[in-house]
Amino acid sequence: MAENANTEFEFIGVNHLAPVCRDMRETVDFYHGLLGMPVTTTTQFGPEGHEQQIFFFDIGGGCHLAFMWAADAIPGAPGVASPAGFLEDTMGRDLTKLTAEEIAALPSTLTAIGSMNHLALNVAPDRIDEYREKLVAKGIDVSEVKYQTMDENCRPVPIADGSSPRVFMKSIYFHDPNGIQLEFACWTRAMTEAEASLSPLGASSESALVSS
Ligand SMILES: [Fe+2]
Repeated sequence: MAENANTEFEFIGVNHLAPVCRDMRETVDFYHGLLGMPVTTTTQFGPEGHEQQIFFFDIGGGCHLAFMWAADAIPGAPGVASPAGFLEDTMGRDLTKLTAEEIAALPSTLTAIGSMNHLALNVAPDRIDEYREKLVAKGIDVSEVKYQTMDENCRPVPIADGSSPRVFMKSIYFHDPNGIQLEFACWTRAMTEAEASLSPLGASSESALVSS
């Protein structure tokens, strides 16, 4: 198993993420009404016509989604701030069976530098199939269960079924009314050292990853 001890800071998880919504009522209906998240804190500020609200939704483990709403919000920007294409339409495909041209023709899920591409909520591995059925029963358009795989070169590999030892994560994908890409995900095994061995790419790739 890859060693992953932080000797600099003792982080104890995510306190909150702060996505932006177009309508707080609609957002409460989705995250509290459909997904069941308790609303733990609500705040409002700003002058008339420029009101802002922040509602905290409990996602377990001491973590929250702090949804922000503003009367004079900046409009959504699919393809920049959020994916133009949804992962349920792309990751539902077995990329190991597609050609490079077919992969290039899929709807783009790229977003701008600094954006949050998607949000994955952690669930128990033995509940993801049940939770998929539950989302479907609630009328949510959700992907099939996606089995994330990796070989010793950190590349995805074809598998015969979800019980393959190559599987390290299971995911399902759907999206919220704001166009936020959501995922339920679960780790299915510990990762090996080889599975965290890639050199990072980019303009500054000269500065090697410090490994100790
Ligand atoms: Fe993900």
